[in-house]
Amino acid sequence: RADGPLDAVRVLMTAGPTREPVDPVRFLGNRSSGRMGYALAEALVGLGAEVALVTGPTALPAPPVAELVRVESALEMHAAVMSRASGCDLFIGAAAVADYRPVEPAGRKIKKDAGELSIRLVRNPDILAEVAALSPGPFTVGFAAETDRVIAYARGKLEKKGLDLIAANQVGGERGGFESQDNALTVLWDGGSRELPMMTKTRLARELAVLIAERYGERHAA
Ligand code: C5P
Repeated sequence: RADGPLDAVRVLMTAGPTREPVDPVRFLGNRSSGRMGYALAEALVGLGAEVALVTGPTALPAPPVAELVRVESALEMHAAVMSRASGCDLFIGAAAVADYRPVEPAGRKIKKDAGELSIRLVRNPDILAEVAALSPGPFTVGFAAETDRVIAYARGKLEKKGLDLIAANQVGGERGGFESQDNALTVLWDGGSRELPMMTKTRLARELAVLIAERYGERHAA
């Protein structure tokens, strides 16, 4: 197809949760389904983009992207992204990347001998912030899932991570968020914002993709 607003634009995306190994049979994970990221990847393809998707483990069918890279841990996701980041025009971090990982995963299955057990954790790299710091770098888009003060925290994240655009949503409420089919977003950028009200993640992803294309186009027209 030709004449989409993102024709020939190279998009690199992350989606889904990460799994941080504790021992050979266990991991620390999170409740991300990957649904929003996969729907967004598909919507971007629909606008003409050439999408490479780096994804953590999900139960979803693979979206119709040009390249699909399956990873498990945050460190694997980091490596897969950084090796591709310089060749993309637009980067979208939609993954729920674990903030911490076990310092050193046990080489053998941990046995239940002790009555108490501690696992030491160390910070993971912030993939999105690292890509945003590249110079020259791609147009960068992040997500912010917050339980409270959504707009204030998201604005802070936009500035601190040096992003071009951030999509914020409230989690922990009755509707929307991680495991839900529906979601609502507030999209923020330097000097503007847009509300995308509660709707299915598929529809929301299409509206977000159009908005990303608009902001990206604006940047490149400037
Ligand atoms: O700081 P916080 O985790 O709330 O930021 C969320 C955004 O940053 C999401 O876009 C997420 O994909 C990205 N992120 C990342 N690497 C991390 C943590 C978050 O890319 N280690």
